[in-house]
Amino acid sequence: MPKVNFAGLKLKNPVIVASATPSISAEKIKKAADAGAGAVVTKSVVLPEKNGKPAGAYPKPRFMLMNNSGGYDPVIAKKNGFFSFFRLGEPYPTPEEMISMLDTLKKPGYTDIPIIVSICGAPNDYESWVNLAKSMENAGADALELNMHCWPVIKYTDPMIVKAVKDVVNIPVIVKLMAINDNPEIVAPQVELAGADAITGLGTFGFRAMEIDVESGKPYLGTFHGLGGSWLRSVSLAYMAKVRQKVTIPISGVTGVHTWEDAVKYMLIGASTVQVCGAIYAHGYKVLSDIANGIDNYMEKHNYKTIEDFKGKALSGIKVPEYNPPVIAKVDDDKCTGCTECADVCLFDAISIEGRNAKIDPEACDGCGVC
Ligand SMILES: Cc1cc2nc3c(=O)[nH]c(=O)nc-3n(C[C@H](O)[C@H](O)[C@H](O)COP(=O)(O)O)c2cc1C
Repeated sequence: MPKVNFAGLKLKNPVIVASATPSISAEKIKKAADAGAGAVVTKSVVLPEKNGKPAGAYPKPRFMLMNNSGGYDPVIAKKNGFFSFFRLGEPYPTPEEMISMLDTLKKPGYTDIPIIVSICGAPNDYESWVNLAKSMENAGADALELNMHCWPVIKYTDPMIVKAVKDVVNIPVIVKLMAINDNPEIVAPQVELAGADAITGLGTFGFRAMEIDVESGKPYLGTFHGLGGSWLRSVSLAYMAKVRQKVTIPISGVTGVHTWEDAVKYMLIGASTVQVCGAIYAHGYKVLSDIANGIDNYMEKHNYKTIEDFKGKALSGIKVPEYNPPVIAKVDDDKCTGCTECADVCLFDAISIEGRNAKIDPEACDGCGVC
């Protein structure tokens, strides 16, 4: 298993459980540890008064897997790239509950992996973050992750919160960024300057998305607010690549990590670790070791000794496409039957059919390659 140092923590592998239901209790965290997690980020702890409506007040299901054409179909969703969403109502542990969880987790022999406690205070209320941070450090947290993506409670990443927390704790402080409102090129350096030891991203996408079931004519998703899953991975990859280019601290990739390939993609844009949430709902905790073993096999195949050997390899390929001399379509006269298929799709009227052969007008051809 590829060992990794992340934000001052020594991990036996780079696959971390993201903050959510799979890390909401000591028992669940033990399951994750036994299944091979490199570390766990706990479900976010919030102050009691911020807990809002009790979870039971929201109708179930609070979390669903969707296939890419919008239907609620966990079987298809498991096979294909799928997206997940959840609505408000997931119960947040109180500080007392989290302290009791840490008490169990830190009992000798219970778990041996780093426990990163996710905390979420109130916007502009630095004291709430500081108090949560101090009490979690005292209770035995190995590191903190600041949940700065908790839409609609948190609307912007506030680097002053990072600074306030860093000033009062000695354990590593990781900042989980939000998908909307912030510009990665501005916020990532601010967070680094404020003292963050690492950045996680992207957090749940707090915007509305919709799909329609054509048979019933009913929309899905319209009223939900927390989105994750493979369909958003490309957005997260692009955002985190920008973050990587702007900071020197380690980054952890989250959103849409379902397979080892997904994990490697995050590493290729410079992540040291990945976080997994929706895939655990879909496949159970065993997906953690599947991903870790897959990374291992990939490294062996490519003769990589450490994650450092391929971390960030894709970054140099990120550029505005260069203008190349136009590529002009060419007809293979031996194969061409004059079927007109190429001429039918040519938007540039560059193909004519003469007898049983296609002819290209090199001036008109745009080199798009569709033919
Ligand atoms: C039911 C549920 C609860 C979540 N709760 C939290 C939370 O308390 N704190 C947090 O930082 N992220 C929370 N998340 C976000 C996940 O940690 C993760 O960022 C998101 O699901 C995207 O990852 P995925 O595509 O692997 O699902 C939650 C996600 C889900 C589905």
